[in-house]
Amino acid sequence: MAPFVSLLSTIALVSLPSAWAGVTYPDCTNGPLKANLACNTSASAHDRAVALVAAMSNADKLNNLVNNSPGFSKLGLSAYQWWNEALHGVAHNRGITWASGGAAFSSATQFPQAITSGAAFDDDLVQKIGEAIGTEARAFANSGRAHLDFWTPNVNPFRDPRWGRGHETPGEDALRNGRFGEAFVRGMQGSDSKDKNRVIATCKHFAAYDLEDNGGGSGGVTRFNFDAKVTVQDLAEYYLPPFQKCARDARAGSVMCSYNAVNGVPACANLYLMDTILRGHWNWTANNEYIVSDCDAVYYLGNAAGGHRYKASHAAAVGAAFEAGVDNICWATNGAAPSPSQAFSQKLFSQETLDRMMVRQFEGLIRTGLLDGPQGAYRNLGASDVNTPSAQALALRAAEAGIVLLKNDGVLPLSLSKEETVAIIGFWASKADEMLGGYSGTPPFNHDPATVAKQMGLTVKTATGPVSQGSGDTSAAVAAAKNAAAILYFGGIDNTVEKESNDRSSLAWPAGQLAQIKALAALGTAPVIVVKLGTHVDDTPLLAMPGVKAILWAGYPGQDGGTAVMNLLLGKTAPAGRLPMTMYPSSYTQDAPMTNMALRPGGSSSKYPGRTYRWYDKAVFPFGHGLHYTNFSAVLQSTSLSSPLSIQALTARCTDTYLDRCPFPDLNVNVTNTGKVTSDYVALAFVTGTYGPAPYPIKTLATYTRLANITAGNTQTASLKWSLGDLARVDTSGNRVLYPGNYTVLLDQPTLATFSFSLTGTEVILDTWPQP
Ligand SMILES: *[C@@H]1O[C@H](CO)[C@@H](O)[C@H](O)[C@H]1NC(C)=O
Ligand SMILES: *[C@@H]1O[C@H](CO)[C@@H](O)[C@H](O)[C@H]1NC(C)=O
Ligand SMILES: *[C@@H]1O[C@H](CO)[C@@H](O)[C@H](O)[C@H]1NC(C)=O
Ligand SMILES: *[C@@H]1O[C@H](CO)[C@@H](O)[C@H](O)[C@H]1NC(C)=O
Ligand SMILES: *[C@@H]1O[C@H](CO)[C@@H](O)[C@H](O)[C@H]1NC(C)=O
Ligand SMILES: *[C@@H]1O[C@H](CO)[C@@H](O)[C@H](O)[C@H]1NC(C)=O
Repeated sequence: MAPFVSLLSTIALVSLPSAWAGVTYPDCTNGPLKANLACNTSASAHDRAVALVAAMSNADKLNNLVNNSPGFSKLGLSAYQWWNEALHGVAHNRGITWASGGAAFSSATQFPQAITSGAAFDDDLVQKIGEAIGTEARAFANSGRAHLDFWTPNVNPFRDPRWGRGHETPGEDALRNGRFGEAFVRGMQGSDSKDKNRVIATCKHFAAYDLEDNGGGSGGVTRFNFDAKVTVQDLAEYYLPPFQKCARDARAGSVMCSYNAVNGVPACANLYLMDTILRGHWNWTANNEYIVSDCDAVYYLGNAAGGHRYKASHAAAVGAAFEAGVDNICWATNGAAPSPSQAFSQKLFSQETLDRMMVRQFEGLIRTGLLDGPQGAYRNLGASDVNTPSAQALALRAAEAGIVLLKNDGVLPLSLSKEETVAIIGFWASKADEMLGGYSGTPPFNHDPATVAKQMGLTVKTATGPVSQGSGDTSAAVAAAKNAAAILYFGGIDNTVEKESNDRSSLAWPAGQLAQIKALAALGTAPVIVVKLGTHVDDTPLLAMPGVKAILWAGYPGQDGGTAVMNLLLGKTAPAGRLPMTMYPSSYTQDAPMTNMALRPGGSSSKYPGRTYRWYDKAVFPFGHGLHYTNFSAVLQSTSLSSPLSIQALTARCTDTYLDRCPFPDLNVNVTNTGKVTSDYVALAFVTGTYGPAPYPIKTLATYTRLANITAGNTQTASLKWSLGDLARVDTSGNRVLYPGNYTVLLDQPTLATFSFSLTGTEVILDTWPQP
């Protein structure tokens, strides 16, 4: 979306017509549409949308192709704002009107940012979060405070650690992001009936988008002009699979095309991406879903300064976007207003395209019950469905489940008596808002760590710290730490630095914070425990300080982040999250230009280190790392996999249209808690082996599950579910192929158990990739 979204949304509240404040449900009983098939709740959503569009004038249609649509007054359809956000809770932005002063709808549950929920590796949890957000979003819409579509989730893989928006995503792995997106969309939209959706979810940003501004200032590469050069292999293997699950499998009602170009064609004018792959290959047309452009993406694909200059005029850009498959143009105040009428009169898009766009916009809205009257599905949701105790508990649970224990010299869990003082130091220590992350709404309370610690009855001394590279006031920090039994330091990169429209140039710990930690660690009077917020910073200097006894990564843990962290530190609950991204050393940025999209190492530069745990093995902390307060042992077993399996037999018994979705026999894992503390355990199953095209990745995540509450001395068993596609490799033409060979499953990071099996027969292409 546009830069400075929160600022814009503040302005928007005062300057936009109040009709855009929230959805107004048309009157199907007495209004102008009462005799129209569109109001017939027995007819299909598609037939209803076609009938509705047939009643619209061309002039009105042409006015309603932008996010801030004026509506169709003759038909009783009021203005509609398509721009609503709910990335990790109902958010502040254009289409959403918040109440003030503690009234109903002045707050909504703010879950952890996706990077933290992603670290829980728990699809059921993600689906429940999606349901809770969809429910609150729909309650806002039913009360005229939001509309019916929401531009979430963000499933772009977090390829480069500098990316300002990586925290909006579930992490760096294509499989993980796909499963997260699928679970989130199913939860948010509701999957009980094909023609009834709670709200519309949007898979964004399609595709290969993870660069904001790689130069800073004029002349630099920005998201508005970046041409991502991506091989067909990387596209099919890494950049697109999250969208395949989010759009093809979960059937999100909407997809957002991104700012960048892919191999010379801007994503929002890219027929290959939107038509050949998304709507063609993935059959994402069955429900006439719609595509929205990212805000001002169409402006920047035309002749705008700083953009792609792919078309000679703004009108030509609008026409190219519509003809390539965009159905609605979002524009922000820093781009010129698009004029679909002008493009239409210049014959830059056709009547057929215009009508198709209208049907797509309204078919989705009809599925959410826009024309079903007050008795329609989900219309009962209201103020009492927002901030429910179960949503609050889920937000806390998600934060606890996602926080990762990176290092522990045995100091955690802390045992402190009430008489002992705990020093809580650092920029984040007394700030709750910064724990939310980008695209936030107002949470119902402020639970920062210092406040929570006091509420728990601890004696707390606080001192703040610098945000970014400013120098740290070590004397105040050292004074606060005097006589403390434990020193908790809350630091890292925060969302005033790590943010939309800005990429970082350094992965180093902010110098001022590091100076404070160093001074505290040198005291030697009490253990220093660092709680790291935000995403990537290189912990190498902390690991070299003997006084730093433990490190916890919390990301952006949401409205109850302070509670979650304190519960984990004090052992009220046990850590079991796993890093959803490789923690690179800060030197990584010198060898990996941000603009290099290649996953595999080498290529044009022998120094190029490759990306993600699949190719890069010099991490400070690797993807999947996460310690516990106990120890585990594990055994993998599967009777169905004990003798070689024929690939031909596996595919012959599959009935799915898409061979990559065919089930592969379950692998069972027995996990035993050999320590003394009850704990969850995330079973990550990677595969490795020399089959398919070389070079071979180090390993690839093939499936995972989270086991809950394994008590000391006890064993739990789980079935790891996977499909043929999860074991396949992608060849240089982008085909997903299942190869015969010897496969080794590596459980956990580092490996805790292994299992080998063989596939025989001949290779089968599970997914024949359309060539550009
Ligand atoms: C409503 O649609 C159903 C299904 O298409 C049809 O059978 C019925 O006759 C329609 N009702 C009216 C009043 O048009
Ligand atoms: C694509 O979707 C349409 C409409 O639902 C359906 O009829 C068709 O069978 C689907 N095609 C595939 C290959 O799944
Ligand atoms: C795990 O086991 C190792 C080796 O037996 C032991 O040193 C360590 O203390 C145990 N860790 C926990 C958290 O129990
Ligand atoms: C795994 O646990 C199940 C019971 O939950 C048991 O039947 C099986 O023998 C165990 N397998 C191994 C290898 O320990
Ligand atoms: C795990 O145990 C906690 C504390 O007893 C409980 O609240 C939670 O519901 C349990 N989780 C599961 C998945 O059983
Ligand atoms: C798999 O392993 C078996 C036994 O070690 C070996 O005979 C066979 O050649 C291997 N297959 C492949 C495809 O490497």
